[in-house]
Order: sequence, then structure tokens, then C-alpha cells
Amino acid sequence: MLKGKKIILGISGSIAAYKACYLIRGLIREGAEVQVVITPAGKEFITPITLSALTSKPVISEFFAQRDGTWNSHVDLGLWADAMVIAPATAATIGKMANGIADNMLITTYLSAKAPVFVAPAMDLDMYAHPSTQKNLDTLRSYGNRIIEPGTGELASHLVGKGRMEEPENIIRVLDEFFSATPELQGKKVMITAGPTCEKIDPVRFIGNYSSGKMGFALAEECARRGADVTLIAGPVQMQARHSRIRRIDVESAAEMYEAASEHFRESDAAILCAAVADFRPVEAAGKKIKREKEGELTLHLQPTKDIAACLGREKKENQLLVGFALETDDEQRNAEGKLERKNLDFIVLNSLNDAGAGFRHDTNRISIIDREGRTDYPLKSKKEVARDIIDRLVKSL
Ligand code: C5P
Repeated sequence: MLKGKKIILGISGSIAAYKACYLIRGLIREGAEVQVVITPAGKEFITPITLSALTSKPVISEFFAQRDGTWNSHVDLGLWADAMVIAPATAATIGKMANGIADNMLITTYLSAKAPVFVAPAMDLDMYAHPSTQKNLDTLRSYGNRIIEPGTGELASHLVGKGRMEEPENIIRVLDEFFSATPELQGKKVMITAGPTCEKIDPVRFIGNYSSGKMGFALAEECARRGADVTLIAGPVQMQARHSRIRRIDVESAAEMYEAASEHFRESDAAILCAAVADFRPVEAAGKKIKREKEGELTLHLQPTKDIAACLGREKKENQLLVGFALETDDEQRNAEGKLERKNLDFIVLNSLNDAGAGFRHDTNRISIIDREGRTDYPLKSKKEVARDIIDRLVKSL
């Protein structure tokens, strides 16, 4: 799928630089042409001789090729490429990219590149987790760069994996997907809410629910796979978004989710509200842990949260689509139809709690889609396949 694609591979100074060899080999095997640009620190980890042997091209590292006045044009290089991949990208290189500090050939090339840029960070966990690194990564995302990070969806490996450079085969997969993206949702912005919300009772307790976020994350992956730029607003979940076109915003409470959703809905072509948002929250969160009383009952005073779906339904413009979910224990059809109207949704996905294997925490789901034309029932499927059905329906209306 990468046949004939011209790829600039930017290598910076990380121990993961050796993986660049496997990356080059894989890219070339897929038919790509690779030009390496390496930082001075990168050369401490891997030699230009190895790299030029693999790419059959001289490696670019200095502004001036020789002391004869000829120089490497980063502008030409930036125009030549179909994609630029920076792997491994160290904290320093990411920081320079985010702030335009063009003191080496890799950064000048990056600043001149017209092609899409993919960044595979590699650094130790503390450096990766530092707010400065995270801020710089967010800045790069806001420039439209795609950050490729490792992730398996499992919490344990998620913690171990963070900061480690993504495996070359997965970087190639991301590039493959990018170049072969089915353009159905290309250029579309989709906002998705996912997971539960947590409403604080005191510093250690909250009101939550059993939502795992699996359905919302599957929807986000599916939209991104079809070319959409996705903003995924996630409550507290142990899930990882894999696709580089997914921009994730983590929130905790219904109020935070509302803030994020109303801000991002404005620029969205469609929103899918998959989150299990708390309908009530404690009027006040206690400042200190509530102690067990010797006797007597504890009464919590709850107040309603904002109905995000209904608020967005009121703001919705002609060219925007709004999709909701309904989880009903009884009278599902009538309740779902009521929500469709009340929240001004274009369609609503109904999942019934009465089905074994459907709904919260399961990997499978059985849904019905209800719109103003009627109801379509689907069989029990994996959440990935269910996401496909839902997005097929969304594409029809967009
Ligand atoms: O009214 P109910 O909570 O059953 O409606 C479910 C739909 O409304 C879901 O799409 C859910 O994400 C959304 N919702 C919301 N904000 C709330 C409650 C529900 O967006 N506070």
C-alpha cells in the first residue's frame, strides 16, 4: 500500500533509534522510498552508514553537505515527501518541533514539510509523563501532527508501554491505513463521549456507573479508520485510543464532560453521545472523608446534572448530526422515541439491559437504531462490528 510513497524518516537521539532500521526495512518492503534525516544526537545511537545502506540514499544530517558551499535544502525535501515520520522522537525533538526551535536539519525539514507528519515518541516514563512533554504533544496534535503511541488497551501494558516507541510494524500499519483510508469521513469532525462520569461525594468516594467506555472507544476507532478527525471525550476508563486521528480529552464529572462537549460540538459535523452520564450529583462534595457515624443514616442530597444531549440538541445546526444512546430496562421503544424527540437527536441507539452479552462491560452488544422513519434491529455482535453498523448509519445522513 506504500508503493511509490516518499517518506522522510526523522531519527532523533534515543536508544530506540535501532528500531529505525526495522522501520526502514518494513517501509522499503512495502514499496516506499525512504530518506533519513538524523539529528546530531541520533548519530550517537546509530551510524549513518547503516542507515544509508538500508535506504540506498545518503543520510542527511548537516545543513551543509560539504565544505564547498552546497547545502541540503530542507525546503525541497519538505516538498518531496508524501509523509514525514519522526521515529524515535525524543522529548527534546518534540519540544523543538512544538516551539519551532530549528537548530538542526530534522527540525528545519519538519517546519518545511507540507506532507502529513507522524510522530512516534520514545523516552522514559517520567519524561513522557511530564506536563511539559504532554503539553508539547498536545501542541503537535493541534498542528495536525499524528502522534503514534503504543497501546494494547490493557492497563498494565498501558503503563509499561507509555513512552516506549511504538513497534515499527505498527507505525507501518498507521501509515498504511493513512494512505489507504476509505475517505467516507475524510475531512469530517466527529465528537464522541464515552465511559461513565464520577460525581464526587468526598475526597475518596464518588457516584459512578458500570460503563467501561468500550462502545465509545470502538466508535472513535471506527470513525478515525474511515478518515474522520475524532475528538473523544472520555470519563474515567481503563481504555486506550489507538488511532492517531483520535484526539482524546479526559474528564471526570458530568459538569466537566458538559464543558468539553459544548466547546467541541461547535466545530463538529457529528456528535455521538455514548457516555453514561450521571443524572444526579451530590449538591456538595465533602471536603474531608465522611466518617462512619455511630448510629443513624447518612443522607446525600443530590441535584440534577446538565443533560448534555438535550443542550447540544438545542444548539444543533442544520448541517450537524446528533446521535444518542439509550439503555432502558423497560418500555424501551417508547422511552427511546421520547428521548429522540426531547433531545432533538437524529437517531438513537437502543441497547437493552435484558440481553445476555449486551451492554455494560461486555465485548458484545445488541442494538436497535431508532430514527424518525422507524426501527432497525441488529443481532448480537462484537462492539467493533456494532460500531461499524452505527457508523454506516451515520455516513448515510452526513
Ligand atoms: O436520558 P438518558 O440519560 O437515558 O439519555 C441517554 C442519552 O443522553 C445518551 O446518549 C447519553 O450520553 C446522553 N446524556 C447526556 N447527558 C446527561 C445524561 C444523558 O448527554 N446528563
